[in-house]
Amino acid sequence: MFVCLGNICRSPTAQAVFAARAAYAGLDVTVDSAGTGGWHEGQPPDIRTQEHGRQRGYVFTNMRARAFTDEDFTWFDYILAMDEKNLDVLKSRRPDDYNGHIGLLMDFARDLDVKEVPDPYYSGASGFVRVLDLIETACSGLIAHIKAQSAKPSQVS
Ligand code: 4NP
Repeated sequence: MFVCLGNICRSPTAQAVFAARAAYAGLDVTVDSAGTGGWHEGQPPDIRTQEHGRQRGYVFTNMRARAFTDEDFTWFDYILAMDEKNLDVLKSRRPDDYNGHIGLLMDFARDLDVKEVPDPYYSGASGFVRVLDLIETACSGLIAHIKAQSAKPSQVS
């Protein structure tokens, strides 16, 4: 589960990139995204997100923005925020019995000294290209991490 603020730019990009890479890697995973804010509920991803993503072959069909719900803690082993503010929101809502991983997506991009995927909403095209670059790198690390975890008895860390 990938989480940003509006669920129309960064987290749908992460969902599309991770879904493509998980399929390529043969991982059987459920992938979704949500926003900590619900202003864009029901909307497709931002047209700029779709256009830049499509240039790299990613698919955004049938995606609609929604707000993160407490029920999501039931379904997802990894809940990954795009930035510190959204991570703080997730941590504040974390149920005591949630045993999964809540963290930053960029923590899986170990070779990059970058903690956050910057909000591209008010940026130009370069902001959306940067979002894709960062998310592609982090998703490669996340795939490698999950593959390594699934080879161990305990699946989540
Ligand atoms: P996202 O980008 O969190 O990556 O989906 C944003 C989209 C909309 C707004 C902020 C960020 N907004 O303020 O409407």
